[in-house]
Amino acid sequence: MTLVHEFPSTCLVARADDGVRGYLLGFVTPTGTGYVHLIATRDDARGTGLGRRLWGAFTDAARRQSAQRLKAITSVQNTGSIAFHRSLGFTARIVEDYDGPGRPMVVFDRLLPAEGAVW
Ligand SMILES: CC(C)(COP(=O)(O)OP(=O)(O)OC[C@H]1O[C@@H](n2cnc3c(N)ncnc32)[C@H](O)[C@@H]1OP(=O)(O)O)[C@@H](O)C(=O)NCCC(=O)NCCS
Repeated sequence: MTLVHEFPSTCLVARADDGVRGYLLGFVTPTGTGYVHLIATRDDARGTGLGRRLWGAFTDAARRQSAQRLKAITSVQNTGSIAFHRSLGFTARIVEDYDGPGRPMVVFDRLLPAEGAVW
């Protein structure tokens, strides 16, 4: 996938003896936004803090690239993702027509946490 090849330090994979348990695909924009395009953890790894750790590792990488804020999006139906990102301190707002006319998305924002801050 292009993102993985072009943004290797912000596309992260959590591996264990039993295979891939989760991944996060993101990049830092030229204007200083650490944007996560996709995050997922394996069904049997959910609720263990892995998603939070992936966001933490991404934040460290984004900070090294001088990011100042973090952003992600999800569909308005994805209540699990909305709850997850709120738990991590993101604000969540519905943006009408984000994905085209009549296609709203939920946009998550937060300032980049200070170095060493607990996620
Ligand atoms: C969203 C997702 C990445 C969360 O990963 P996870 O490893 O289960 O998350 P964590 O265990 O790190 O949870 C972190 C916090 O979010 C909360 N949380 C996670 N999923 C939740 C859910 N479905 N409902 C309510 N709270 C949730 C946890 O309770 C935890 O809160 P706490 O630390 O305050 O107790 C995972 O459920 C997933 O892969 N979903 C499918 C793909 C998806 O929708 N990705 C996001 C859109 S791109």
